[in-house]
Amino acid sequence: MTILRVLGSAAGGGFPQWNCNCANCDGVRRGAIKATARTQSSIALSEDGVHWLLVNASPDVLTQIRATPALQPARAARDTGIVAVLVMDAQIDHVTGLLMLREHRAALPLYATAPVLRDLAEGFPLSRILSHYCTLETHPLLLDGTPFTVPPFTALTLQAIPLESKPPPYSPNRAAPQRGDNIGLRIVNRATGKRVFYAPGLARIEPHVRAELDQADVVLVDGTFWRDDEMQRLGLSQKSALDMGHLAQSGPNGMIAALDETRAARKVLIHINNTNPILVEDSPEREELAAHGIEVAYDGMEIAL
Ligand code: MLT
Ligand code: MN
Ligand code: ZN
Repeated sequence: MTILRVLGSAAGGGFPQWNCNCANCDGVRRGAIKATARTQSSIALSEDGVHWLLVNASPDVLTQIRATPALQPARAARDTGIVAVLVMDAQIDHVTGLLMLREHRAALPLYATAPVLRDLAEGFPLSRILSHYCTLETHPLLLDGTPFTVPPFTALTLQAIPLESKPPPYSPNRAAPQRGDNIGLRIVNRATGKRVFYAPGLARIEPHVRAELDQADVVLVDGTFWRDDEMQRLGLSQKSALDMGHLAQSGPNGMIAALDETRAARKVLIHINNTNPILVEDSPEREELAAHGIEVAYDGMEIAL
């Protein structure tokens, strides 16, 4: 069965975040709110339940593997179900897990755009560091709309969708964003025709993003913040959601309004920041999502494709 499994549904920092005492982080730590802890941003795709493409290598990848027995099929003395890794951007929450996979027995296939591979060679030189361990076998992702498959998959077809955003704070290109710094992923199962649009970081509904949302059966998109000024109001950051490359859910031009227009059978928010009130299952914000037919991803959530 072809499946998409959510390994980590939280944004960078996770939920609760180690140093955070916002109402959500403090509440979940003390068991005082109706909410479940979440690890940092990652999903995995498989056609057969044995071979998996890891999409984003989270700092929590070892915890996620422990929570997902299918990722450890135990066919040999050293083994993994992870056949390759694809990353959406070069942000810490999406690439740091590569360091944790250094014991891989062969070169680890890594699919990423050219600007992301450059950041991983220069700003955060994981490819150089890992050349002393498993080494990375890099596969540059094209942005020309060409679909591709990752071996040994045959029916799962992927396509990188460039998204307006910024490279990470450490990037030498931080001040000069380039096409490909951040992508969404169109995932199509050719056997069933089912189509998913996955975009954990989405700042703006550009016309081609509108088309992706409209044509997908399942959308799995940026659920980072409820309000654009969420972090500022809590006194936790000077930056707005948009400054960080995320479209907030609420408001006339927010993600809820964008999702209201799509025909997707399932609309799911992912990459949820620990400050977001939708993490509280009996909150009015969560009720509002439900009224719009929008789900909130959780670690271990599975979507059949
Ligand atoms: C983001 O997408 O903005 C990240 O979660 C930030 C981070 O990982 O530090
Ligand atoms: Mn992130
Ligand atoms: Zn918090």
